[in-house]
Amino acid sequence: MIKINEHYTEIGNNYLFAEIARRVREYKETHPDKKVISLGIGDITRPIVPAVIEAIHKATEEMGKVESVRGYAPDAGYDFLIHAIVKNDFTDRGIQLNPDEVFVSDGAKSDTGNIGDILDRNNRVAITDPAYPVYVDTNKMTGRQIELLPCTPDNHFVPTFPKKTADVIYLCYPNNPTGTVLTKEQLKKWVDYALEHQSLILFDAAYEAFISQPDIPHSIYEIDGAKKCAIEFRSFSKTAGFTGMRAGYTVVPKELIAKTSKGEIVSLNALWKRRQSTKFNGTAYIVQRGAEAVYSSEGQKQIKETIAYYMENARIIQNALHDELGRTTFGGVNAPYIWVKTPDNMSSWEFFDLLLNKIQIVGTPGSGFGKAGEGFFRFTAFGNRENTREAIERMKKLMN
Ligand code: MLT
Repeated sequence: MIKINEHYTEIGNNYLFAEIARRVREYKETHPDKKVISLGIGDITRPIVPAVIEAIHKATEEMGKVESVRGYAPDAGYDFLIHAIVKNDFTDRGIQLNPDEVFVSDGAKSDTGNIGDILDRNNRVAITDPAYPVYVDTNKMTGRQIELLPCTPDNHFVPTFPKKTADVIYLCYPNNPTGTVLTKEQLKKWVDYALEHQSLILFDAAYEAFISQPDIPHSIYEIDGAKKCAIEFRSFSKTAGFTGMRAGYTVVPKELIAKTSKGEIVSLNALWKRRQSTKFNGTAYIVQRGAEAVYSSEGQKQIKETIAYYMENARIIQNALHDELGRTTFGGVNAPYIWVKTPDNMSSWEFFDLLLNKIQIVGTPGSGFGKAGEGFFRFTAFGNRENTREAIERMKKLMN
């Protein structure tokens, strides 16, 4: 008889964004005449920049020729991309990394979800609340004990240390969903905590390209000692519009070690390498060439324009909700998300239903990211300008 992983029965039927998509689909089927605007999932609307498209075309041509066709990609990524990553994202920021500490993948969602493969089920896990649902869901799938670290206006969205010592800690900064950040000093406290307790920090930096203020760390490795206690996840999805192309990478420093139950020292880098080479067949050559072009001078200029476009959307949403409608808002300055308190103490899902049914706007209910997100709502700045403005006008009419 088939035995299932029963932990799957303990998590809801649907992943948050799948549930939202289901509700929106249902609404559209019953209201085909209504124009629904999505400011829900953080999915891009601007085209992929010309420098990347050009590189993809060139790589596609190469694949059509006998002398340049490529088969399986190296499990950890092509050297050309890894070198571009190391130089631009780290060396230029004063961080020394070896190429074999970088693992190119199909995105941060997979990596933050899969990293648990190399970690024992009995690790005590601490996760900020609210959080990107992948962290909680994947740990529940494995049956790990989770302590949630509430991040609310009361603590200025700065998590306090877990009550029971955590072996593994998930931090995402700039934060999804709240759009808030940690300063270097605040992040240093977590690095110090991890070093003191021999814990591992899983640092999701998928939104680092949206940082606009100084003294906000782009990488956890800007903090001394972090290479001994942290794995960092990066993504091309939001930085360069790769949500549909799929590329990201994970840094697992060689200094990062753990012990077996017998006390033998093992390298997490070696374990992740083993995991990836067994379960992952590499990111497509064409996509990796596209990702490499993100780092060209043209590519950098172009992606910065796209990021500025999205951040102008963030400013528009923030201005309307905060300045004109008097709502309490957070984020939107160093991240493409605006976190807003729901009106009249409505629950997050009540507000979702209200916006969808009354003005056909889709956002993401804060409670979908965790208990501490109840009573909040997330808007994304990744919409197109026209729809963002229209959504704001509809909200002004509804809430004024
Ligand atoms: C989000 O909306 O939180 C993200 O786009 C989801 C993701 O990156 O998978």
